[in-house]
Amino acid sequence: MPSHAILVAHSANRVYNADASRLGLAEAAALAPSLTADVEDLTVETLGDVEYLTFTTADDLADDDLRRLADLSTTRAIFRRADDGGLHPRPLPRTAEHGDDLVTIQRYKGKTNEQFTHLLVNVTVAASEAARRREAKQERVRLLDPVAGRGSTLNRGLVYGFDVAGIEHDARAVNDYRVFLSTYLKDHRVKHRIDRERIRNGELAGTDRFAATLKSGQRLGVVGGDATLAPVMFPGYKFDVLVGDLPYGVQHRATTGGGPPRGADELLEASLEAWRRVLLKGGTIGLSWNVRTLPRVGMLELLEAHGFEPVDHPHSFEHVVDRSITRDLVVARR
Ligand SMILES: C[S@@+](CC[C@H](N)C(=O)[O-])C[C@H]1O[C@@H](n2cnc3c(N)ncnc32)[C@H](O)[C@@H]1O
Repeated sequence: MPSHAILVAHSANRVYNADASRLGLAEAAALAPSLTADVEDLTVETLGDVEYLTFTTADDLADDDLRRLADLSTTRAIFRRADDGGLHPRPLPRTAEHGDDLVTIQRYKGKTNEQFTHLLVNVTVAASEAARRREAKQERVRLLDPVAGRGSTLNRGLVYGFDVAGIEHDARAVNDYRVFLSTYLKDHRVKHRIDRERIRNGELAGTDRFAATLKSGQRLGVVGGDATLAPVMFPGYKFDVLVGDLPYGVQHRATTGGGPPRGADELLEASLEAWRRVLLKGGTIGLSWNVRTLPRVGMLELLEAHGFEPVDHPHSFEHVVDRSITRDLVVARR
């Protein structure tokens, strides 16, 4: 039986790095059902003194499987293991419409770890029937991040060639992201057009939005304002996946319209119905949050109460971010 070893990518973040192999294992196990090959004996193994994810398959990996494994947030390299223990590198057919620097260049307080963002997007898309249908027809997957910050999820989606949309109520973050994106596209000579406007009327009056169209046809839209207004911001538009790193209730105490601060549970209570309405049937929502402010059972109850069906994963994704944040993720299907 062919045997493979994935060299685990090193994260620049020391705390995340301590959990990188375990999270990689959880990610690979979550993606395994979307591969054509039957993956067996998936485990973390130390070869020499370096950690790898190792597994066997009945047949050799098809190109599509290799591409999916290459896209794991954890994958630095993939080797086929010879009977004598030798490791033979496999060329990796990665799906990237832009360079990885699109996700790594920006540095700011409150940025979600880019490796974790990559993982969250992967496990959410892997469970989405809607996204798979679109991939099979070679149409662009449509992703919405309703708590977009300065765009880490949107950038990951752009690298994957998705059409992406974001909502963010901090006007400064929306502006900073527009400036970053426009500079990035100019510096990398990506032909594009960006239109921006201040909305004057209706529920969104006073907020800014911008839209970018790239020569490749890829599209991005970001709207300033409250995440509960998703159906008003993107009327008649449905997404394959919603992906968001929710405010942790620590540094990013969420607020709406000058109202009282909101924790993740209040934000979800107010938003899930609106988010369900902009998600295609068979589409998935992937959220990460601080379990110290909302226990996992509470998260699952909230999702189920709003018509989402949580997806079971074989391994936990819970990990420590810092002294006040322990992060987990959940994927649920509409
Ligand atoms: C954990 S941060 C996400 C950071 C983002 N992934 C990044 O790396 O830039 C959560 C974001 O949600 C935003 N937010 C909180 N409540 C919101 C609401 N009701 N509507 C829209 N955005 C909200 C916060 O301003 C913050 O930028």
